[in-house]
Amino acid sequence: MKKPEKEIKQAVKEHYGKAISRKGCCCGPPPEEIADRVEDYLALASGYTPDELSVLPSGVTSFGCGNPVALMSVKEGDVVLDLGSGAGLDLILASKKVGDRGRVIGLDMTPEMVEACRKNLEKTGVANAEVRQGEMEDMPVGDGEVDWIISNCVINLSPDKEKVFAEAYRVLKPGGQMMISDIVSYNLPEDVRESVSAWVGCIAGAVEETDYLKMMREAGFDDVKIVEKRTYSCADLGDHSESECGCSCREGMEDDVPVKSYADKVASVKVYARKPL
Ligand SMILES: C[S@@+](CC[C@H](N)C(=O)[O-])C[C@H]1O[C@@H](n2cnc3c(N)ncnc32)[C@H](O)[C@@H]1O
Repeated sequence: MKKPEKEIKQAVKEHYGKAISRKGCCCGPPPEEIADRVEDYLALASGYTPDELSVLPSGVTSFGCGNPVALMSVKEGDVVLDLGSGAGLDLILASKKVGDRGRVIGLDMTPEMVEACRKNLEKTGVANAEVRQGEMEDMPVGDGEVDWIISNCVINLSPDKEKVFAEAYRVLKPGGQMMISDIVSYNLPEDVRESVSAWVGCIAGAVEETDYLKMMREAGFDDVKIVEKRTYSCADLGDHSESECGCSCREGMEDDVPVKSYADKVASVKVYARKPL
């Protein structure tokens, strides 16, 4: 992407600021039978179970690409940081796992998301969670403050991923662990890479799988490994035109690209890493 980092971040902020107040999935309204619980529909598609969703109040929707909380082996009393916490779904689930002696911290740069998340935490009555407004490239979190970092479909949106991994390393305790759900790519075409619309939609900023893992190792992490992977087809990417695979998912932004140009070239991965002791 040739656009300056500041412009990309502004576009991301605007997109997610609007997304939190919109109901429906990207290519049109949700099926009628689940129209009043669209957040469940989106969350089920990301890999949450009906049991997990049953504890959530209405409005706690998922913008994620997986369920990182399900895969982390957090202990009671741990401190968990969620990068790009959105509406707070993973924060609420993690807060139950760490119990009363633990803490969860959400971090998000979009004011509308932070506000929605605070309301959702309040509605759920979660006492051990807070959300901080800030950027993951410069985290408002102390050195060695947390035991676990989770993140769900967020790091791909950063124009400076090396900085994100360096910050993640700084704020983790020695021996601290990460479970990240994110998007990686395989030979994405140049026009997709240059589309701001595809960037805010978690596609254009997705780096090659090998580069992603390399960046984490270079930041100092050990045991870096992919523990789950799902390559996205046209249908998975929300193409409801069935045969054409031409429908795009982004609200008609002018540099939009058709789904077929990136279908089967992006995957949702769950990546584990550990800071050495
Ligand atoms: C695709 S949404 C995912 C939200 C949430 N993790 C979920 O699973 O529903 C991306 C979120 O990351 C936030 N975000 C994007 N770039 C960020 C950055 N550089 N620093 C902090 N938050 C960021 C956005 O505001 C948005 O809430």
